[in-house]
Amino acid sequence: MQIGLLGYGTVGKGFYALAAEQPSLTVKTLLTRRPRGLACRETGDFADIARDPDIDVVVELIGGIHPAYEYISAALRAKKHVVTANKAVVCAYYRELVELAFQNGVCLRCTAAAGGGIPWLSSLGRVARMDRITAVEGILNGTTNYILSEMTARNAPYPELLKQAQQLGYAEADPTDDVEGYDARRKLVLSADLAFSALLQEGDIPCVGISRMTVADIAWARERGLVWKLNARAERRGDAVSAFVCPTLFPASTPEGQTNGSANRISLYAERIGKQSFSGAGAGGWPTASNVLADCLSIAGGAAPFYSDRPVEPLAVDNREGERTWLFRSYGRYAIRQETAAEAFEAYGAVSESDPTSLLAYLPYGML
Ligand SMILES: NC(=O)c1ccc[n+]([C@@H]2O[C@H](COP(=O)([O-])OP(=O)(O)OC[C@H]3O[C@@H](n4cnc5c(N)ncnc54)[C@H](OP(=O)(O)O)[C@@H]3O)[C@@H](O)[C@H]2O)c1
Repeated sequence: MQIGLLGYGTVGKGFYALAAEQPSLTVKTLLTRRPRGLACRETGDFADIARDPDIDVVVELIGGIHPAYEYISAALRAKKHVVTANKAVVCAYYRELVELAFQNGVCLRCTAAAGGGIPWLSSLGRVARMDRITAVEGILNGTTNYILSEMTARNAPYPELLKQAQQLGYAEADPTDDVEGYDARRKLVLSADLAFSALLQEGDIPCVGISRMTVADIAWARERGLVWKLNARAERRGDAVSAFVCPTLFPASTPEGQTNGSANRISLYAERIGKQSFSGAGAGGWPTASNVLADCLSIAGGAAPFYSDRPVEPLAVDNREGERTWLFRSYGRYAIRQETAAEAFEAYGAVSESDPTSLLAYLPYGML
C-alpha cells in the first residue's frame, strides 16, 4: 500500500520510521514545507498526492482544522483512504467526513485522535458493533493529569507545575486547550459520537478545567483519601446525552486514582459486556504513531469504511436528569451539594461571577 504522508513533526517522524519497517507499506510522497532529505519524494503541493493514482492512503499529521479539512476531504473524494490523528478536524467535520468515506467506498480512521497510543477508538468501534454502549468516560488529557499528579505528589502550586510541564514538552506554549479542558472535551465528543452514533457539539458540553486548582484543594482531597483527575464523561439518557468535563475526585485506591503522570485511562460501559477500561500513553511521538500505523495496517487488511456503520443522528446534550454529588469551593470554603449536572454548572457559572477563583468538582463516588 502506497502512502502520501502530510506532515513530518513529532508524530509524522515516528510514523515514517515505523512504516519503513512494514513490508506492506511504502511512504511514496511527503507533503512538507521544507526539504527533509528523505528517501521518499517530497513536495510542497498537496495536488501531487491527491492526483497520484499510485497513492492508496493519505496519512494526515499536520494538525489544525485548515488546510487539514480540505486535504482530507479532497483525498476521500479522490477515493483514497485517510488516516489522521487530528481530533480538531474530525470533531469539527465528523458527519461530513464519515459520509464522504462511505460515499467513496474508502476508509477513514482516526484512532490516535483520542487516547494517543491507546487503541481506544478502535476498541470502542468494535464494541459499538456488538453491544449498546451506555457511557464513556475517562482521563483523556495527559498534560492535566501530569500537572495534577505532580501537585499531589509534591504539594507544589499549579503555576509552577504548568511551567514545568511546558519545559518538559507536555504542555504547549499556549496551554489553554489542555488546562481549560477543551482538548479532553474534543476527545469526549469523538468518543461519544462513535459510541452512540451521535453528533454532539463541543460547545454544548459544559467544561471546567484545572487552572483554578490550588494546593489547598489537593490537601482537602488528601485528608479524605481522594485524588484529583480531569475527567470527561458522556452517558446516553433516552434520546439525549448527559455530558460534562470537570475536575473529579476519585478514591486514591481506584484505578482512576492511580493513573498518574501523563497517562490516560478511558472506560466504556455497555449493556452486555459491562465496563471495559483502557490505559496507557495518551500522547507522544512513538505511541501516537503506532496507532496511526495500526490504522494503516487495518486498512491494508480490508477494514470497513468507518469504525461503525450505524447512521449518525444528532443527539442533544441534556444534563437536567439525575442528581449527582458535587463539590463547590468559593471564597475558600468547600460545600458538598446534590444536584443535576445542569444545576451544578449553572450554579458554578453564577458563583464564578462573584468569585473568579471558585471551583466545581464532581464526586462520582459521593462523599466517602
Ligand atoms: N504529539 C502527540 O503526542 C499527539 C498525540 C495525539 C494526537 N496528535 C495529533 O497529531 C497531529 C500532529 O501532531 P504533532 O505533535 O506531530 O505536530 P507537530 O510536531 O507540530 O508537527 C506538525 C507537522 O506538520 C507540518 N505542517 C503543518 N502545517 C502544514 C502544512 N500546511 N503543509 C505542510 N506541512 C505542514 C509541520 O511543518 P513545519 O515543521 O514546517 O512547521 C510539522 O512538520 C495533530 O493533529 C495532533 O493533534 C499528536
